[in-house]
Amino acid sequence: MTRRKLVAGNWKMNGTAADLGEATQISMAAETADGVDVALCVPATLIVRACTATPGFAIGGQDVHAAANGAHTGDISAAMLEDAGASVVIVGHSERREAHGETSEAVAAKAEAALNSTLDVIVCCGESLDVREAGHAVTNVTDQIAASLPANADAQRLSVAYEPIWAIGTGKVAGPEEIGEMHAAIRSKLAEKLGEDAANAVRILYGGSVNGDNAAEIFAIDHVDGALVGGASLTAAKFVPIIHAATGRSV
Ligand code: 13P
Repeated sequence: MTRRKLVAGNWKMNGTAADLGEATQISMAAETADGVDVALCVPATLIVRACTATPGFAIGGQDVHAAANGAHTGDISAAMLEDAGASVVIVGHSERREAHGETSEAVAAKAEAALNSTLDVIVCCGESLDVREAGHAVTNVTDQIAASLPANADAQRLSVAYEPIWAIGTGKVAGPEEIGEMHAAIRSKLAEKLGEDAANAVRILYGGSVNGDNAAEIFAIDHVDGALVGGASLTAAKFVPIIHAATGRSV
C-alpha cells in the first residue's frame, strides 16, 4: 500500500502573530508539494489567525482534553479546536507525558475525543535514553503505543509519531537501523491491535532533530511515512527543504 507522506510541524510553545508570515510561506510550499500532506501545529492562541492567513492549509493543535467541556481550567476541547479552524491535533507528546504526567490511557482518551470530532490525530510515543541503553526501547515503545491507541481508531485519520526522547531538540538523530527497527515494530503492533489493513493505512512519522540535511535519508527508510518536526518547523527556510525532501525533490 502507498501511504502519502505527512510532514507536520510542531511549534510547541513558540510563536506569536509576528511569526505568521512563516506559516504563510510554509503553506505556499505545501501547495506545490505533490503527493505530500503538510500540517503545522501551532500554539492554541495562533490557530484562528494561522487559519485565516493560510486558507486551505492544515493547521493543528498540540493537545486536546478528553472531555467535551466542563471544569478543566486551561484545557481545550476537540470542538474548540474545530471551531478555531484546526483539522489535526497532536496527543501524547513526550513533553506532555513528562511535564504533565500524561499516561498512555489518558493519551488514548484524548485521541478518542479527537476522532469523535472531525480532527485527525497524531499519537506520539518514544523511549528515554535510559530505556534505549538498557535495550528495552522496542518493548517500551510498542507497549506505549498499544496503550495509547483510541478505541475508535480510524486508520485514515490516525498517525503515529515515533520520537525518541533523546533525539528531540538535541541534534542527535536516531540511526537508520534504529528508526527502521522501531517503525517496523510499531507497524506489527498496530496490525495486532487494529488488523493488517488498518495498520497498513496508518502513517508512522519519525520525529527528533529532523532537518533539511537528514530528511531525505530518513524518508527513505521502510515504514517511515513522514516526519514530526519541532525546531526546524519554526521558519520556512528550514521547514520547506524537509517538505521538498518528502516529495523526493532534491534539496
Ligand atoms: P525537534 O525537531 O526540535 O527535535 O523536535 C521534535 C519534536 O518533538 C516534534 O514534536
